[in-house]
Amino acid sequence: MSEATERLATSLPRVDDFAVSVLEGLSRRRKSLPCRFFYDATGSALFEEITRLPEYYPTRVEIGILEANATQMLKGKSEETVLVEFGSGSSIKTEILLRELPELYAYAPVDISESALSDARKRLTVRFPRLNIQPAAADFSHPIELPIELAKRPRLGFFPGSTIGNFGPAEATQLLRAMRGTLSPSGRLIIGVDLKKDVRQLVQAYNDANGVTAAFNLNLLARINRELDGTFDLNNFRHAAIYEPFEGRIEMHLISSSDQDVWVKGRRFRFRAGETIHTENAYKYTIEEFHLMAQSAGWAPQRVWTDEANLFSVHELLTP
Ligand code: AVJ
Repeated sequence: MSEATERLATSLPRVDDFAVSVLEGLSRRRKSLPCRFFYDATGSALFEEITRLPEYYPTRVEIGILEANATQMLKGKSEETVLVEFGSGSSIKTEILLRELPELYAYAPVDISESALSDARKRLTVRFPRLNIQPAAADFSHPIELPIELAKRPRLGFFPGSTIGNFGPAEATQLLRAMRGTLSPSGRLIIGVDLKKDVRQLVQAYNDANGVTAAFNLNLLARINRELDGTFDLNNFRHAAIYEPFEGRIEMHLISSSDQDVWVKGRRFRFRAGETIHTENAYKYTIEEFHLMAQSAGWAPQRVWTDEANLFSVHELLTP
């Protein structure tokens, strides 16, 4: 256990569910794999590359919104405020907020990846030498128990990247409730939410010309081969991303090019030509739709910031 995460280690259930989830997902009549497994070292590097693609607007546009509005977003935050970030990863966007918060009491990044937490801590310690960093290696989909000296101070949550879009409406509502549990009483949440827009632009963001998103998607099969003794032939599956207007979501799939058998951990899975593995959902909302969901999770929506083209939104939610 790394130094960065030892303080909260005792309260954490740490089960490696990759094998269990893969075998279960591939056994379904409609095969699926959970998108959280995209992010091994190779997948995380490919995702970084996605965020720099011309077609993939969310990261760039959200950073622009944060930079243009950070002062306004954080007005009134005191030297007592604790900034809690859910799924902090590399904490890159956090720096935009930290530059506006010289008097912050502490920054508590929450991430399932201990290596991401310790890398982020090293980088932030250099850039913000006086910052009190209190990382927590935890799954943010459950309420997190913060150390008492953090829990007794006013908390500001940060959940950028439209990661909320990976969850269906019911799960997303649960997640918002869990975050309210971690941040209340008198908590606030700044959350990034990708907006509904022109379907061609949405689909292109997940079907880039250079095939980086395809490589990101296919890496899930490569990871199964590496870690679970899988026999996936990556040339026999192709990436697809479609927009489902009824659900309001992008779906990513891996489509089998032929009838084939694949083995994982000694178990055989049969694929018919054209059969798909559903690997990710990315839900898109209107501002009104997101407000309704936040309200049903017990939050009071406050200000909303968007870009000129209304591609992306950053919401401020308050515990009533
Ligand atoms: C990190 C979940 C926000 O859904 O846009 C990017 C992941 N998948 N391209 C998204 C992703 C394919 C991304 N999130």
